[in-house]
Amino acid sequence: MPVKLHGTMFINPAGHLEIGGCDTVQLAREFGTPLWVMDENYIRQQCRLFKKAFIDNLGGDAAYASKAFLTQAMAAIIKEEGLSLDVVSGGELFTALQAGFPARRIYFHGNNKSREELKMAIQSHVGKIVVDNFYELTLLEEIIQEIGDEPVPVMLRIAPGVEAHTHEYVQTGQEDTKFGFSLASGQALEAGKRVLKSELLTLKGIHCHIGSQIFETDSFAAAAEIMIDFIAQMYKKTGYLIGELNLGGGFGIYYSKGDTPKTIEEYAENIISAATEYAERYGVPVPRIIVEPGRSIVGPAGTTLYTVGSYKEIPGIRKYISVDGGMTDNIRTALYGAVYEGIIANKALHEPEEIVTIAGKCCESGDILIKDISLPRVEPGDILAITCTGAYGYTMASNYNRLPRPAVVLVRDGQADIIVRRETYEDLLRQEVLPRRLRG
Ligand code: LLP
Repeated sequence: MPVKLHGTMFINPAGHLEIGGCDTVQLAREFGTPLWVMDENYIRQQCRLFKKAFIDNLGGDAAYASKAFLTQAMAAIIKEEGLSLDVVSGGELFTALQAGFPARRIYFHGNNKSREELKMAIQSHVGKIVVDNFYELTLLEEIIQEIGDEPVPVMLRIAPGVEAHTHEYVQTGQEDTKFGFSLASGQALEAGKRVLKSELLTLKGIHCHIGSQIFETDSFAAAAEIMIDFIAQMYKKTGYLIGELNLGGGFGIYYSKGDTPKTIEEYAENIISAATEYAERYGVPVPRIIVEPGRSIVGPAGTTLYTVGSYKEIPGIRKYISVDGGMTDNIRTALYGAVYEGIIANKALHEPEEIVTIAGKCCESGDILIKDISLPRVEPGDILAITCTGAYGYTMASNYNRLPRPAVVLVRDGQADIIVRRETYEDLLRQEVLPRRLRG
């Protein structure tokens, strides 16, 4: 009898971890390790939940935040599932366009978009540019004048002074962030007026993003109140009614014990009831709600497979098990103290026997993937699967220590397709130039 874990994750009758109908021990053998395994059905299921809650039921929008994980295949899935896309750089935009993603369904973010990036966005007719600051407003107008395009639809990113943490939110009122127009100083209002006066820009809506890995719906409600209050103020001062409110992403996911995410339906219900309540309180129509989930669409869909190598036991202190990847493919433990769970893919039904620490292979003491995890006896050659690594692993990967970046395989119904090839040593040299005078 297979044992069901999450998504399409099972322990199959061979006692191996299986994802998307593929035995991960086989995947490791076929494609090598480290390997990111992305569960296509899980991604699609999450997309459908967001689409149903925010697009179909509400007439709003849901834009996948591509910074969490983007390849052409991913953009193609998002396109098929009917979500919009949030990009933050020319590179993300290029990837989406190359995959045939409709430009009209793209939101272009960023606190320092370059002239070239803005030009690219305008010329490809992205749906909305989310303007972050006054410099960008001026730059945008200059570019539009130069290339003589039609008025560009924009949203204004606003810093609402709400900061969400995993289990709480704080209304900081603080303006000290690099993102967006500050509210308290009146800059947001000034920016709104400026866009309204501009013949080159059309004001479509306002945007905020209050944080990531948020479990409490209160934080979104608090942000919604502040933003709707702003809509009311803009209306009072200019007679212009802002129709769209983008509340950003940040929906929390399960990484490890103690994480208690709400369902997408719960987040949606809370957001819409807060928006309805505050719209009434501040005397404006309920704006069209947009969200930008990243992690909650791809996080639990991803699993990283590693091969176990060396180990070191310090009697009475700790046992280190080293794997063939590390902070190069997942910097989140080192950077944020993120906590993951893992399973020995080829011993998925074995009882836990020891508490070990999973170390990467990089020359850095902080290169730890999981501290103190309870596992069956681990031996060199075993396949360790670390779960919920689909978000911000691949996109934040590096070549530290000149480690080639791993491959990404997309699994579905027993089929495994490579969507990113493993880097080779030659790839590491591809962009390098060895000047003639240094060639021995
Ligand atoms: N929208 C905006 C404007 C954002 O800045 C972000 C994330 C999102 C949407 C998506 O948030 P999500 O739903 O994925 O939480 N590298 C960090 C996360 C940084 C998130 C930055 N912005 C990590 O690995 O946890």
